Amino acid sequence: MEIIEGIKTRRSVREFTGKVLDDETLLEIVKLGFWAPTAHNFQPQEFIIFKDPGTLEALARNLKYAKGLKTSGAGILVMADTKKQPEPGFYVADTSAAIQNILLGIHAGGYGGVWIGVYPVAEYIQVVRDLFNLPDRLVPVGLIALGEPVREKEAVDRYDSRRVHWEKI
Ligand SMILES: Cc1cc2nc3c(=O)[nH]c(=O)nc-3n(C[C@H](O)[C@H](O)[C@H](O)COP(=O)(O)O)c2cc1C
Repeated sequence: MEIIEGIKTRRSVREFTGKVLDDETLLEIVKLGFWAPTAHNFQPQEFIIFKDPGTLEALARNLKYAKGLKTSGAGILVMADTKKQPEPGFYVADTSAAIQNILLGIHAGGYGGVWIGVYPVAEYIQVVRDLFNLPDRLVPVGLIALGEPVREKEAVDRYDSRRVHWEKI
């Protein structure tokens, strides 16, 4: 898929067939997160790929907007290493860029995915921290549910010329 077409046609997918992506595919998708730009090139992003049904179920149950994980069969947790980048404004930007790379990779592969927000909601951060037993240095920023979409979602055109300014407001 051509990159600009991919950017313009990606949509969030929250319903999956239940067919679990194989490990090789999951790893190839996660690798894309390493090509993201990061502030000072500190590269604080770390990932957990998970397929355990208990983990998927616990996240879907405890996070209000994580229903995508009920049928995806797999998920990716994206975290920031605060030893590498202690500034939240930067590590959130860094990991968000990684998440977008991954979402585009999922779409380009013909699969579907959705970003499930964790940071900065203290309750969600605690749920994820406890479930994965994360060391203090790692802050969970976002989750991604990914799998085979039940149906294709239509692309939308959100361009709004009123929000693009040239030289001044
Ligand atoms: C920071 C962030 C957090 C998000 N959190 C959730 C979430 O918890 N659950 C969910 O289903 N979608 C979540 N989304 C996806 C948005 O709802 C989705 O991108 C938006 O509705 C636009 O739809 P689209 O992705 O299909 O273009 C999140 C997106 C971002 C950028």
